[in-house]
Amino acid sequence: MEKNFKRTTVTSALPYANGPVHIGHLAGVYVPADIYVRYLRLKGRPVLFIGGSDEHGVPVTIRARKEGISVQQVVDRYHSLIKDSFERFGISFDIYSRTTSPTHHKLASDFFRKLYDEGKFVEQVTEQFFDEQTGRFLTDRNIRGECPRCHNLEAYGDQCEKCGATLSPEELINPYNAETGNPLVKKATKHWYLPLDKDQPWLEKWILEDHKEWRPNVYGQCKSWLDGGLKPRAVTRDLDWGIPVPVEGAEGKVLYVWFDAPIGYISNTKELCDAHPELGSWETWWKDPETRLVHFIGKDNIVFHCIVFPAMLKAHGDYILPDNVPSNEFLNLEGNKISTSKNYAVWLNEYLDELPGRQDELRYVLTANAPETKDNDFTWADYQARCNNELVAVYGNFVNRALQLTQKYYEGRVPECGELSDFDRQTLAEFSDVKGKLESLLENFKFREAQKEAMNLARIGNKYIADSEPWKIVKTDPERVKTIINISLQLTANLAIAFEPFLPFSSKRLRQMIAMESFSWEDLGSTTLLPAGKQLPKPELLFTKIEDEVVAAQVKKLEDTIKANEAANYKAEPVKETIPFEDFEKLDIRVGLVKACEKVKKSKKLLKFTLDDGSGQDRTILSGIAQWYEPETLIGKRVLFIANLAPRQMMGLESCGMILSAVNFDGNLSLTTTMDEVKGGSQVG
Ligand code: 2FM
Ligand code: ZN
Repeated sequence: MEKNFKRTTVTSALPYANGPVHIGHLAGVYVPADIYVRYLRLKGRPVLFIGGSDEHGVPVTIRARKEGISVQQVVDRYHSLIKDSFERFGISFDIYSRTTSPTHHKLASDFFRKLYDEGKFVEQVTEQFFDEQTGRFLTDRNIRGECPRCHNLEAYGDQCEKCGATLSPEELINPYNAETGNPLVKKATKHWYLPLDKDQPWLEKWILEDHKEWRPNVYGQCKSWLDGGLKPRAVTRDLDWGIPVPVEGAEGKVLYVWFDAPIGYISNTKELCDAHPELGSWETWWKDPETRLVHFIGKDNIVFHCIVFPAMLKAHGDYILPDNVPSNEFLNLEGNKISTSKNYAVWLNEYLDELPGRQDELRYVLTANAPETKDNDFTWADYQARCNNELVAVYGNFVNRALQLTQKYYEGRVPECGELSDFDRQTLAEFSDVKGKLESLLENFKFREAQKEAMNLARIGNKYIADSEPWKIVKTDPERVKTIINISLQLTANLAIAFEPFLPFSSKRLRQMIAMESFSWEDLGSTTLLPAGKQLPKPELLFTKIEDEVVAAQVKKLEDTIKANEAANYKAEPVKETIPFEDFEKLDIRVGLVKACEKVKKSKKLLKFTLDDGSGQDRTILSGIAQWYEPETLIGKRVLFIANLAPRQMMGLESCGMILSAVNFDGNLSLTTTMDEVKGGSQVG
């Protein structure tokens, strides 16, 4: 049911302060949220855009141990890095705070206490895995052990990465602490649970009946949770980092990160409104039924925002519930999963440093390729193609043509618009449709299609100039040319408005280029935005091409990361069965001097070596090393080979022995040689 709201509270998932944000976060959450908020502001609708860092939970503690610094240092470092990168990228938060703030600690603690006092939790004692040497309980992800299915010795408490089995820590054989290697025991511990099973009936009605308009991926995930039957969820943990459970006898326990983090949205709103009384009370933004609450999140956060947090809000009372939870699927990178722990990502801070001034290019590509309905892949080739073929060749090109023609024919002054032709009218009509289309798409969180619509305006503009060919009639019909350029400039001004939510940096530059100081969304579709006679400054290019080298460098960086990860994970093959010394003595290993080396015809793998083996006669050996060496570079080198291996026929040639190579972790081969100059034929042993 459509409802008229007075104001909108927009939240975007609080990223863990355990690393920088990457393009997956941007595409999934922050770019769409920012587009939406910028649009609402342009429409003049009251809105608050709330962000902040999630500084509790296990991820930040793992990072601290890995880096050998305190958890506080980790969250301080990444909170400021993330905050700063968002700002540079134009994510227009009204506040970006953090869950370690005193305001948040108090609000989250009071929230828990109210539910506790009103008997909204269930207490339960369960047996959990415990490391007696460190005195710590462990979370599933921090427990490792032998997989009961494939016997991988390093399966996690929730999953075996080798065979893909979903596990619980109880199933692991000989569980141990992933970080210390210590064996684990079971120990009883008390926790507080939110009895979600009791919330099942109203959640079913509220989501499945009243919110059929939610995106299919969100609705579908909720439905499957509900169909599976909700179970009580623990909202406390045995950890030493987090907000202490405000209950006597709960020493050493903290609020579960997923209990405190969403309350962070409320705390940050409070912090903002307390500092800016003109925004009104924070409570209006969270408790007034005329406020619309919208959460932008990634798909791994759906259950927490659609089921757990609403259940918390309802249990507390007073609060409004989210009206929509637009969640995206995941963005992959060059065909692989983005991973903070594996350092495999395009990090926002690095992007901003390495491609300065190109915020809008990334914003454009991430929206054009947004994983709104399914997982999508970001590739640098696609980034380059979209920038060059769409931003430069369509949008930039149209604007540049309109502005250059104005300079050329009218010394930069907006010409008068004369009588309209049918073609002019038709073009303007196409333009005036766009406002309605954009609005309906944006209000329904279809950002990808909305941006396409905005780009379509530039396509219409290009076609208009190309078909009207003003350069051909400038001498013969100067009045007509004035009209064409006037219309092109009005279209340019419209583009600056239409793209403002999507590409705020270039929209601002474009507004400077057409000297349009003030504007509003309602102006979209207007054909009188730039008055005749207005002097425009000298134009610049709105977008510039992305060169091949830039893209190649980024791709190489990712490939290097993959290699570094493979090297770090490399484990040598187990040593083969022991053999008696006599068996070794049977092998005759020698040094051979490479006299000649060439590719074997019709073979991609083989090189033909001619060796001086000290016998006075040349020896021919074929070796499958062509992929790794240019044959001519090997001439004069010394290689090790097995001299007494029975000859073999390969590709019609006889190979007398075998040249020894080392197989690197990544499968690459490396020829073996001697440290010093040694004569051909010398024995190795
Ligand atoms: O998945 C995450 O990165 C969480 N830190 C998101 C928290 S969203 C909200 F609840 F704060
Ligand atoms: Zn397994």
